[in-house]
Amino acid sequence: MTTFANLDVPALLAELTLEEKASLCSGADFWHTKAVERAGVPAVMVTDGPHGLRKQSTSADQVGLADSVPATCFPPAVALGSSFDAGLVERVGQALGAETRTENVAVLLGPGINIKRSPLCGRNFEYLSEDPLVSGVLGAALVRGIQSAGVGACVKHFAANNQETDRARVSAEVDERTLREIYLAAFERVVSEAKPWMVMCSYNKVNGTYASQHPWLLTDVLRTEWGFDGVVVSDWGAVNDRVAALRAGLDLQMPAAGGHVTDAEIVAAVRAGELDEAVLDRAVERILTLLDRSLPAVREGGTFDAAAHHALAREAAADCAVLLKNDAVASADGSRAPLLPLDPAATVAVIGEFARTPRYQGAGSSQVNPTRLDDAWTAVREVAGDRAVFAAGFGLDDSANDEALRAEAVEAARAADVAVLFLGLPASDESEGFDRRHIRLPSAQIALLAAVAEVNPRMVVVLANGSTVQVSDWAHHAPAILEGWLLGQAGGGAIADLLAGRANPSGRLAETIPLRLADNPSHLNFPGELGVVRYGEGVFVGYRGYDAREQEVSYPFGHGLSYTSFGYTDLDITVDEQGVTVAATVTNTGSRDGKEVVQVYVSPPGSAVARPVRELKAFAKVALAPGESRRVDLTLTTRDLSYFHPVQGRWVLEGGEYDVAVGASSRDLRLSATVTVGSSEPAPPLAEDASLVEWLAHPVGSRLLQERLSVAGPSLLTDPEMHHVVGNFPLARLAAFPGMPITPADVEDLRRAAR
Ligand code: BGC
Repeated sequence: MTTFANLDVPALLAELTLEEKASLCSGADFWHTKAVERAGVPAVMVTDGPHGLRKQSTSADQVGLADSVPATCFPPAVALGSSFDAGLVERVGQALGAETRTENVAVLLGPGINIKRSPLCGRNFEYLSEDPLVSGVLGAALVRGIQSAGVGACVKHFAANNQETDRARVSAEVDERTLREIYLAAFERVVSEAKPWMVMCSYNKVNGTYASQHPWLLTDVLRTEWGFDGVVVSDWGAVNDRVAALRAGLDLQMPAAGGHVTDAEIVAAVRAGELDEAVLDRAVERILTLLDRSLPAVREGGTFDAAAHHALAREAAADCAVLLKNDAVASADGSRAPLLPLDPAATVAVIGEFARTPRYQGAGSSQVNPTRLDDAWTAVREVAGDRAVFAAGFGLDDSANDEALRAEAVEAARAADVAVLFLGLPASDESEGFDRRHIRLPSAQIALLAAVAEVNPRMVVVLANGSTVQVSDWAHHAPAILEGWLLGQAGGGAIADLLAGRANPSGRLAETIPLRLADNPSHLNFPGELGVVRYGEGVFVGYRGYDAREQEVSYPFGHGLSYTSFGYTDLDITVDEQGVTVAATVTNTGSRDGKEVVQVYVSPPGSAVARPVRELKAFAKVALAPGESRRVDLTLTTRDLSYFHPVQGRWVLEGGEYDVAVGASSRDLRLSATVTVGSSEPAPPLAEDASLVEWLAHPVGSRLLQERLSVAGPSLLTDPEMHHVVGNFPLARLAAFPGMPITPADVEDLRRAAR
């Protein structure tokens, strides 16, 4: 094997001229960094991502598909998130890394791990979950997989890029606790656990400052607190003020566009004494280090087995689809059984254009040119042969005659034992660049569904959508619903496997399906106005919000059925200084091989701040044969139990009773126990304006105050009845009232003594 000499980064830093160093800080074109040939610094290529390689020629338009090289289109993040399977996701990452390497590309621009704040976000199909734990664990698995091939992953879009509306300018107004607990948490986990080589800043502003020039985000939090040692790249065109961005910690501006101009701005700022050259040197050092890391793989290249990757894409797709519903229906002999898997002898009407023309990925910069594309109709027919017929049911363009197509489909459904309807969102509804306005399926599809239900109630709906659609208005028509999300190039075969029972559904919802859009916690604050979007729901995002408001939902976070069943027993929880260990036994109580996602939810004790009713704190996917049991151990750290104290600027573990529950969804908790967790928190200092109640709750302050008052004699300060009335008043001000037994100066003395 050829070995490639490393770059001598310190020597290069010393040798490069100011102009050469500045030139390295922006792209040469859309996808390449710049070379400095004189000094032997090569250029490397980066490409999208996230669920497949989109390697274009340099002249190509950014979102064009035409000339990107064929690559495996794995299930997009919306589907991978539903797998809840870090092992599977890591294998997909390895395959992505191998393809990246084969094309001599240095960094794959993914995964995207932004939180799904609203089902409307046009790019939800590129993101994993409404929950930061799922996003973080699976994001880290993808990064580990990709980087195992010797190429880099680029985690994006940092941070608070949760909508497409006005994405290049809008200011996400988010309080720090919400940022830390929800929107930064997945990035923190991925950065600290998987060490990505690159982080891409987002286009938007965060609390008034562009993410691309946000020193707190790009340096204080990302590097100083989390230890990120890679390159921060701008989202394509996200740089507003190049010098401010460099100063804030943004190393590489992409793409070239104004890049050559901004290189000169950097040089001028250094010459004018406005920018410390050491800041530039640090960015250049990080960029050179990235080149050094990637060169062996980029130069050596690799190969991959397209058929094996297609098979992995099919296996993954089958593990991502979520069986929402599978009611028992009567069969010809009068017995009742769940409609899925399909009876092998049944005649099947496959209805819906999506069965023949699959929707398998979303539009925009993530669009991959697949190596092949399976459709469900072909795959079903391979198994069912003449027992299956197809009817389009609706068209995918405006010129389709939906009424005629519907009539034909109804006749096909009438004649078949089972109707399988492939419904979903048209490609034009979901894309990078804009948000949806509603979450309904097209009306022609709902009309089709109602018409089919009238002639054949034995109906399965298979959905294709990149983000949640409302099901509450039609789910009653369908005994079985399989949420297929967007399943990538092999999704058609995977759906056929699931329908026939060759594969057993094991996906779980990584996002809640609400009854209606208006129930979503962000509803009144999405997508904002006049350049500002206020994250008014705070930490109550997704199920955290539905649960806090005790709202009924169509299907809760974590939900997903199987063709087998699982039992939970023997919960055992131990608490020590490191945190909480949860163990439970899961048993496959049915008659088929299956996979269960064991989920641990924690409810905090009464708290100083408003906290979610319950939060997912650990999960594991286990494969079990019929009758097989497995002991599942999951560990929660003290940090997992803590909240972020925005005033003290740190994570705080509250002492008290925590409810720990293990179950199959956020609303299907099978075992639970209450554990007492001690807090090692030192008592916070009493503030100058601490209230009487705060004094009385303070372990030291309360003792000192009571001692002083017991000497001074009874007053409203010692009367428990009066505590209701004046308890929220600052003690120092109460002390100034006439006739009080202590003075403001006494209070200040006590306060010092209590420290
Ligand atoms: C997207 C990024 C993408 C980049 C390059 C941007 O518009 O937001 O996710 O990686 O383009 O295509």
